[in-house]
Amino acid sequence: MDIALVILAAGKGTRMNSDLPKVLHPIAHAPMLAHAMAAGAALEPQRTVIIAGHGAEAVAAMVAETDETAQVVIQAEQLGTGHAVAQARAALDGFDGDVVVLFGDTPFLRPDTLDRMIAARGAHDLVILGFDTADPAARYGRLIVANGQLEKIVEYKDATPEERAISFCNSGLMACDAATLFELVAEIGNDNAQGEYYLTDIVELAQALGLSVTAVKCDEAETLGINSRADLAAADAVFQARARAELMENGVTLMAPDTVYLAFDTVIGRDTVIEHNVVFGPGVTVESGATIRAFCHLEGCHVSRGATIGPFARLRPGAELAEEVHIGNFVEIKNAQVAEGAKINHLTYIGDAEIGARSNIGAGTITCNYDGVMKHRTVIGADAFIGSDTMLVAPVTVGDGAMTATGSVITRDIEPGALAVARTRQDNKPGFARKFFDKLRAQKARREQENS
Ligand code: UD1
Ligand code: CA
Repeated sequence: MDIALVILAAGKGTRMNSDLPKVLHPIAHAPMLAHAMAAGAALEPQRTVIIAGHGAEAVAAMVAETDETAQVVIQAEQLGTGHAVAQARAALDGFDGDVVVLFGDTPFLRPDTLDRMIAARGAHDLVILGFDTADPAARYGRLIVANGQLEKIVEYKDATPEERAISFCNSGLMACDAATLFELVAEIGNDNAQGEYYLTDIVELAQALGLSVTAVKCDEAETLGINSRADLAAADAVFQARARAELMENGVTLMAPDTVYLAFDTVIGRDTVIEHNVVFGPGVTVESGATIRAFCHLEGCHVSRGATIGPFARLRPGAELAEEVHIGNFVEIKNAQVAEGAKINHLTYIGDAEIGARSNIGAGTITCNYDGVMKHRTVIGADAFIGSDTMLVAPVTVGDGAMTATGSVITRDIEPGALAVARTRQDNKPGFARKFFDKLRAQKARREQENS
């Protein structure tokens, strides 16, 4: 059976109180609509139609980036979810299969739930996804079941107190043959509390036509609908809990899972250990057997097998660490390749650089990569030894096996095997300190006498 996804994403999201269209608000660094699209992609749909309205341009750009085959249809006026689905009709002209309707603000559906809906479609004309809410005040539509049949859906705002007391709620997700769906949505009216064309009305319309309607049940966390910033935070927590559990199943040790913040695309290999309070921004891959110690912040970087990072290290975009690299505390690395076994253990900034294998970068080293206008590269060879507190003024090259004296300001290239000393020579003045302090103490004593 061919499947088309129709994802509703035109709403303003008034309760978000934001200039950004609701479906573009990020969860774990990816827009919630991208999460919804990824969830729907599990069905391997032949067609995907996104209904956009508020911020349509930005939404269309995001969609194109995520799935270039997806079609974006504009719903110029947001007259309700039923009206939104009707907008997909022309885009799906000639499509002969099932339509699965998803909401852009309901991003966490599990593949097996979608499979169960498709399975239920085998025996029923219209399948609705519902869930039992633990919160009696939840403002979801309520599913009214009588004699084992789903009779209708009542929106919270239109529901009687008795109906509101029902815990069985509408997720918004549904599956139906395309031709039937578009026939049903064409019949929807807007005589209700919000004056909107409710998609949910198709349940009653289908019943009236003698079609068979059923509800499939899933977990509440899966159908969390995001309408406010508080919901967004709750959604993020759901994402994090899931992603952490998945990592641990895949053999990653999280010493304090609740304190590790993951991005939608974080990849971590087996037997890697993540200590407390580690934050992953987008685009991080960590291979197996690495250790990320407490309080590290990583984004857009790659950490190879057996490397040790932190505590308190920051890896920024373009940091590429080879196997067995050691990065210690208060070290920042940006756009730099650090080769196998190199050590950068304390208080250092490495930016726009290349560090050769087994080189040791002393405490307080800075690659001075920015001249106020342009960025420049620092290239350090293999087995080099950079003395503590070296300033490497880029562009500059340090050859294999070369060395810099502690406290040097390096402005010229250093040939392989050489020592560069770039600081003023030390000058010891015998007895100077003693005489100097004797003089000061004598002065102080004289003043005290004068004032007494
Ligand atoms: C909807 C359901 C409700 C369900 C809840 C689940 C209806 C009438 N109500 O309510 O039964 O419990 O979702 O989360 O369907 N949208 C459009 N165009 C429109 C209106 C909405 O594209 O004209 C999109 C929104 O962007 C959003 C989705 O449809 O992604 C749902 O709309 P929303 O207004 O959030 O519906 P709820 O009030 O949450
Ligand atoms: Ca909603």
